[in-house]
Amino acid sequence: MHPGADERVLGYLGRGLSMELSAVQLYTTQARLVAGWGLDEPAKRFRDEAQEEMGHVERIISRMLALGVAPNASQLRPVKLGRDLRELLLYDQAFEDELVSLYTDAATHCARNGNHEGRLFFEELLEEEKQHSRELAHWLAQLEQLGAGSGVRGASF
Ligand SMILES: [Fe+2]
Ligand SMILES: [Fe+2]
Repeated sequence: MHPGADERVLGYLGRGLSMELSAVQLYTTQARLVAGWGLDEPAKRFRDEAQEEMGHVERIISRMLALGVAPNASQLRPVKLGRDLRELLLYDQAFEDELVSLYTDAATHCARNGNHEGRLFFEELLEEEKQHSRELAHWLAQLEQLGAGSGVRGASF
C-alpha cells in the first residue's frame, strides 16, 4: 500500500466517496423535482451541480486506486425532499458545509503528518465545496430578495 494511505486517510476518502455519491443522488433528485414544479432554470443548475459532484466521485475513486485500495462506499444518505426551492437550498447548504468540514479535517490530518500530496488533494476538494456553499448562499439571498422564498411552489427565482 502507498505510504500516503494511512487508515485515517482511507477513512476520509471512504466518507468523502459516500457523501459525494449522496450529493449526486441529491442534486439529480432535486433537478427532477423542481422540473416537475416548472422551474427550468433551477433544474438546470441542479443538473450541473450533480455533474460537478460526479467529477468529485471520479477524483476520489482515482485517488483510492492510486493508493492501492478498492472504492468501498457502502452508505448513501437518503434524500430529504422539500416543499419549495428555499427548503431544498437550505438543506443543500448544510450538506455542502458537512463536506467542507470533512475535507478540512482530512487536509489538516495530512498536513500534520507531512502528507503533502494528500493535503493538496483534499484542499482542492475543500475549495470547491466552499465555493458550492457560497453559491448556494448567494442563490438563497436572491430568492429572499425576490420574495420567492416564502414557500410558493413554482415561483421562479
Ligand atoms: Fe463534491
Ligand atoms: Fe458540492
